[in-house]
Amino acid sequence: MSPTLKPAAVYRRVGLNRIEDLLDLEEASFPSDRSSRRNLRNLLRSPSAYCAAAYLRGELVGGIVVLFRSNAKVARIYSIAVSENARGMGIGQGMLRRAEREARRRGCDRLRLEARMGNTPAIRLYEKLGFEAVRILPGYYEDGAHGTVYLKQLDSPR
Ligand SMILES: CC(C)(COP(=O)(O)OP(=O)(O)OC[C@H]1O[C@@H](n2cnc3c(N)ncnc32)[C@H](O)[C@@H]1OP(=O)(O)O)[C@@H](O)C(=O)NCCC(=O)NCCS
Repeated sequence: MSPTLKPAAVYRRVGLNRIEDLLDLEEASFPSDRSSRRNLRNLLRSPSAYCAAAYLRGELVGGIVVLFRSNAKVARIYSIAVSENARGMGIGQGMLRRAEREARRRGCDRLRLEARMGNTPAIRLYEKLGFEAVRILPGYYEDGAHGTVYLKQLDSPR
């Protein structure tokens, strides 16, 4: 598809009324380590979590959750996913840009996240936006897969 023909996504904060869509997205996107309904409900209600979604023609096709701690300068991307049929359209990047904006707005100067080793689409996305691998997390995931911590300084030019 030519880039000019890609439909534009709309990004908005998301609330409890879209919890079913977000659970479906989690189930389709993650082999393990998914959020339970209860956990997601708590996140959607929490003032220390920023939860946003991406929509294409009204359909929820992406979600991101960012966690904040009081007096901490580092925010954490807890979860990011895009529906399979909407990948490669810049939506993951668009949600991360919004997360960065929100983190700056709340006074943070760094953004961190964990990625499963071998998750090439995610790792390429993070590296494109200026995240750097800072630490290995052996056996971090439920199935024993290793993780990597990525960090971005929010004054980075990318
Ligand atoms: C990772 C994920 C969120 C990326 O979302 P996306 O909307 O498809 O990504 P974007 O279209 O914004 O891609 C932005 C950049 O990421 C990289 N990228 C994305 N998908 C890629 C792929 N399949 N292969 C290689 N690089 C890829 C590219 O650098 C791309 O930039 P480009 O289009 O200029 O080449 C999506 O693949 C996904 O939901 N995966 C399943 C859930 C998951 O693994 N989440 C991350 C947990 S750590």
